[in-house]
Amino acid sequence: MEYTETVRDHALNPRNVGFIQEHDGRGECGDPACGDMAVMTIRVRNERLIEAKFLVRGCGAAIATCSITTELVKGKTVEQAARLSDEDVVQALGGLPAHKLHCSNLAATALHNALEDYWQRRKTDRHDWQALYRP
Ligand code: FES
Repeated sequence: MEYTETVRDHALNPRNVGFIQEHDGRGECGDPACGDMAVMTIRVRNERLIEAKFLVRGCGAAIATCSITTELVKGKTVEQAARLSDEDVVQALGGLPAHKLHCSNLAATALHNALEDYWQRRKTDRHDWQALYRP
């Protein structure tokens, strides 16, 4: 399987590249197997993600998955964003070649880590956020 048009589009014209200095949460994820790395920053107002940006050092699939992840979660509540799975990211891209599926973990995990950071900063125990990540 080759890259879909959507993957190519997001890899060549990535959306929301950057680092939000005034972020409410920041998450990172690295893949030890390939050495790639993603950083996701988010801004949250009234429990909704109003902005998400990423920086990545990685392959085209990693760029595309990070890019589409920021698009998918914009405007979502933090709980909806926490439910975004690797599979959701892959589906939104129209699929990825089997040997590139691991690249999608970078984006979703960096996002989840940013949400975790957000919740830690708020020091709230109202959310059982870990439950959201459980399969
Ligand atoms: S090969 Fe490392 S994330 Fe794609």
